[in-house]
Amino acid sequence: PVELRELLLSRISDVPDYPQPGVMFKDITPLLADPSAFRALTGAFVDLCERFRADKVVGLEARGFILAAPVAVAAGIGFVPVRKAGKLPGATLGQAYELEYGTAEIEIHADALAPGDRVLVIDDVLATGGTADASLQLIRRAGAEVAGLAVLLELGFLDGRQRLEEGLKGAPLEALITV
Ligand code: PRP
Ligand code: MG
Repeated sequence: PVELRELLLSRISDVPDYPQPGVMFKDITPLLADPSAFRALTGAFVDLCERFRADKVVGLEARGFILAAPVAVAAGIGFVPVRKAGKLPGATLGQAYELEYGTAEIEIHADALAPGDRVLVIDDVLATGGTADASLQLIRRAGAEVAGLAVLLELGFLDGRQRLEEGLKGAPLEALITV
């Protein structure tokens, strides 16, 4: 709905030249500090859990954790973290992905998901799609099914949606706001 979109957008601030000159950073901390906006955001993601029949929520470190954890609790389903490499204590599966300069790697516990699990992946921002794409690969390698990918904000001009087309394999990508 338009009102939800307007509310969320009004609580995201633009920070020019952060972390580098020429980059416009999307700061979600005002949204997190506003309980009614944060509650509305959580509710919208919970609705997607139901619509996509998800039985697990995966949050992507770090900002995805903040958004995904309350969704899992409110939806009554489990939360599974996808972490930056080297942070999980158990046996892990890892996936490297491209950054603007160099590569990064994310990991999931190898036994965190079971065959037949339907996973909703949640993150704050979809930019180039590199992080999200790597997470979709991890979920499939862990034996589960991708029920969908949901983000608060999609930066449409970076074409992340196109990059994800193959990795989504028909699963829905839902952005609450696209700029
Ligand atoms: C940011 C953002 C997304 C990702 C989007 O995370 O939170 O996870 O970049 O970019 P992409 O679509 O080009 O992959 P980042 O790893 O910078 O920081 P965080 O740990 O604060 O979430
Ligand atoms: Mg992130």
